[in-house]
Parts: sequence; structure tokens; C-alpha cells
Amino acid sequence: MTERPGPDDRDLEALLGPGAHGYFAGGAGDELTLRDNHDAWRRIALHPRVLVDVSERDLGTTLLGRHRPHPVVVAPMAYQKHAHELGELGSAAAAAATDSLYVLSSQTTTSPAAVADALGPSDRWFQLYVFTDRAVSHDLVAEARESGYEALVITVDFPVAGWRERDRRTGFKVEHPIALNPSGPPLTTEQLFAMHDASLTWDDIGEFADAAGMPVVLKGVLRPDDAERAVDAGAAGIIVSNHGGRQLDTTLAGVDALPPIVDAVGGSVDLLVDGGVTRGWDVAKALALGADAVLVGRHVLWGLARGGADGAEAVLRQLLAELDSTLALLGCPNARDLDLSYVGRRTAG
Ligand SMILES: Cc1cc2nc3c(=O)[nH]c(=O)nc-3n(C[C@H](O)[C@H](O)[C@H](O)COP(=O)(O)O)c2cc1C
Repeated sequence: MTERPGPDDRDLEALLGPGAHGYFAGGAGDELTLRDNHDAWRRIALHPRVLVDVSERDLGTTLLGRHRPHPVVVAPMAYQKHAHELGELGSAAAAAATDSLYVLSSQTTTSPAAVADALGPSDRWFQLYVFTDRAVSHDLVAEARESGYEALVITVDFPVAGWRERDRRTGFKVEHPIALNPSGPPLTTEQLFAMHDASLTWDDIGEFADAAGMPVVLKGVLRPDDAERAVDAGAAGIIVSNHGGRQLDTTLAGVDALPPIVDAVGGSVDLLVDGGVTRGWDVAKALALGADAVLVGRHVLWGLARGGADGAEAVLRQLLAELDSTLALLGCPNARDLDLSYVGRRTAG
């Protein structure tokens, strides 16, 4: 059986040290949203159909008009060299080995070009934070475009950093050079977070969408009216996300925010969701509720921390095997055919 590392494992904290472990595992405030991201999947029941021929299964989906063999996407996560010496090269190799779409964080400790090399022909998107110094953001977009990233994921839930008490306690510093500051000294997360442009508005999104030369996906939308504005602003996709519980505590879990957003804009743009995904049946539930794909964050990161590229790959392989098994047991051999008839509310336990 594949290891299922979790954030509370003592040995993981010993492996990474309290600063990096707290940064990766932690959430905002009392970490209620962090916990609810996991609980929300468990509140949803699956309704299997019996006596369906499930001898052949298809996990495929379509994202930005391109066929994908399955709906699992590796989420953008910052500073991965603090999880393992391979850093982003390890998680990218795991994504390439499992045909998973990879999203590189703009807070990467490996250059976008080197990650593109590790991915080879595998699909990749680039995540962008818009910084007060716009030239820094525009340079990153240019580098991503040159390295063959196919879409720009603009994260819109980070005008300022969430209230993260673990980082305040440990004083975690990013010791590795980052793409933004390749030869600079180690920076505290507070210094890095201060670069974000808190004055960003919908008009700026239009400017980046025009300049990007690639489709734009907005990450961090939780309200249907914002989803409608995203569509009006020309977004090709929306990631329904609370940033892994790291920004505003007590927001809805992504999967709980998804249904009204599907009602508002479903069918007009691609919809992705994240937060707390650790099981193939979580992915099936997201698709049944109307998502086209699912991002997986910490679950992959713990695999990377434990076992480098192989560890991250094992996590992704198990998730995909669980999804395949779920399709069979649900009596829905084609992931595209999952719909609301396969899910309901769990009333107990
Ligand atoms: C350590 C860490 C770093 C992250 N860095 C970024 C980032 O640089 N950009 C971004 O858009 N989201 C970032 N996120 C949020 C993830 O992309 C994703 O939304 C979240 O991790 C999903 O929740 P999960 O970790 O429970 O799967 C980060 C998350 C974690 C855990």
C-alpha cells in the first residue's frame, strides 16, 4: 500500500524542521477552513448504480479545449526545495510520469525553464501573483511563455497574506534562491508577501489577460457573482479555491462553494476546484458536482517530502487508481458522465 503521509506526522516535522513544516502544513487563523477542506468531502455521500458494464473505464476530461487523460492537476505550491532537495523538479517529474497537468508557482525555487525541461512534452500552466512592481510579474509571464507554459493562472485571493500564526511563531525564512530573487539573501515570508499588490482589481486582470498571449484562469474565486465577473473579464477557466485554508479562515470549503458557481457559469468556462483532496473518490465527487478537474496540493507535497519524485509519483498513482476504482464501483465507467445523481448528503458519521 502507498504511504499516506499527513501533516500531523511527527516524523514529517522532524524531516522538514518546524519552520518549513509549519509553512507547508499550516493555515490561516484557527485553521477551521483548513480542517473543513477535508471534512467537506466526507459530508458528501456517493450513490452507486449497479449492474452497469464497467469493464472499461475512461478517466478523461477536457481542459481549455484539450483532451486530458484524467482530471488530476498538481496545484501551484511555493518554495518546494524546502520540502525536498529536488524541489519543483521532483513534483514536475511526478506529474510528467502520471500525465498530470502541472501548475508551477510563481514563488518557485526552480526556474520556469528548468521545470519545463523536467516536464518535457507534458502539459503545464504557470501561476502568477501580481506584484506591486509590475515589471517583475510581466518578466515572469514572458519567461513562462518562452518555456511553453500553456495558460496563465492568476491567483486573486492574495491581496495580502492570510493571518498565519505558525509562520509568525517559527519565523520561517525562505533560504533557497527563488525565481523572483535569484541571487538575493534569504527572505522571510512577510518580506515576500509584502511584494503582492493589494490594489489589484478586475481592470488589471484585463490588462494581464491581454498581455499574456495565453488563456487566463483565475484561481481563488468563491462567489458566484465573482465567477460571473471572471467570465466577463475573459477568463477561460476558474479555480474554486480557498488557497488550502491559508488565506481567510472560516470561508467555505472549495467543494461547498462549487455548486452555486456551477449554476452561475457552468458550461461557459472550465471549472476546477481544490482543497483537501486526498482520495480518488474526492475527485469523483468534484466531477459529479460539475467540476472539470481537481487540483491537489499538500497531498503531493508530502509525497515529495518523503520520497522525492518517486514519493510524489506514488501519491498521484494511488489517487488515479482510486478514481478508476470509484468509477467502476459507482457504475459510471466514463468520468465525463458523472453528475448530481451520483452524490448526496451524508446524514450520519
Ligand atoms: C505550501 C503551499 C504553498 C502554496 N503556494 C501557492 C502559490 O504559490 N500560489 C498559489 O496560487 N497557491 C498556492 N498554494 C495553494 C495551492 O495552490 C492550493 O490551492 C491548495 O494547496 C489546495 O489545498 P490542499 O493543499 O489541501 O490540496 C499553496 C499551498 C501550499 C500548501
